[in-house]
Amino acid sequence: MDRSSTGVEQTPTVRVLEAAARQSLHAPSVFNTQPWRWRVTPDALELRADPDRQLAHIDPDGRLLTLSCGAALHHARVSLTAAGWTVTVERMPDAGDPALLARLRTTGPADLDVPAGRLVDAIPRRRTDRRAYGDRPVPEAVLARLGDAVEAEGAYLHVVRPDQMPMLAVSTGRAADAELADPAYREELRRWTTRPADSGDGVPAATAVRPAPRR
Ligand SMILES: Cc1cc2nc3c(=O)[nH]c(=O)nc-3n(C[C@H](O)[C@H](O)[C@H](O)COP(=O)(O)O)c2cc1C
Repeated sequence: MDRSSTGVEQTPTVRVLEAAARQSLHAPSVFNTQPWRWRVTPDALELRADPDRQLAHIDPDGRLLTLSCGAALHHARVSLTAAGWTVTVERMPDAGDPALLARLRTTGPADLDVPAGRLVDAIPRRRTDRRAYGDRPVPEAVLARLGDAVEAEGAYLHVVRPDQMPMLAVSTGRAADAELADPAYREELRRWTTRPADSGDGVPAATAVRPAPRR
């Protein structure tokens, strides 16, 4: 979080906002770069992209950076909702300041939100799982629930049909080969997979999985 937040008077609202920003630090991010910055004001949380943590070669347009910040925004919003507050989110609130991605405000107490409570419990426990998928098909009912959850956030879930799998496997294999043949990609990968243990960011080699035949 932005150090300037420490200068803000510790009102109950500020304490709730700070707690939500802290929860959001568990969000997934590309290469675990954690490319976000929070500023706490007396009545709002402001989320900014951190350009120093953008992957200049892999992500020159900042799309993966923006998705990562979106995950942090989601976690902060869910945290405020679960704490019993109504929340408004303004995305890109200042046309003259494109790095300011969102501003969250709490507008008063809200009814208990049970689903938000379940989500907030999952925030510190969830992990990226890189193991191969199993053979068991995902039940239609689960796919439908995933689709609903994604659409509730204004996004779209594309389900890859079995007949599309070979094409997907070939294209991702080629993309991976092309990336690994690129020295600039390898350098960014090296940088974020060899971060000091106490940095709290990057992807430790231990979280990788061995290449194995997978469907
Ligand atoms: C936009 C975005 C793209 C990601 N791309 C990949 C990827 O291509 N391969 C991968 O193994 N993990 C990917 N991840 C997962 C991150 O590596 C992971 O969130 C990060 O290392 C933190 O670990 P955690 O999710 O277990 O907390 C991505 C995450 C985000 C948000």
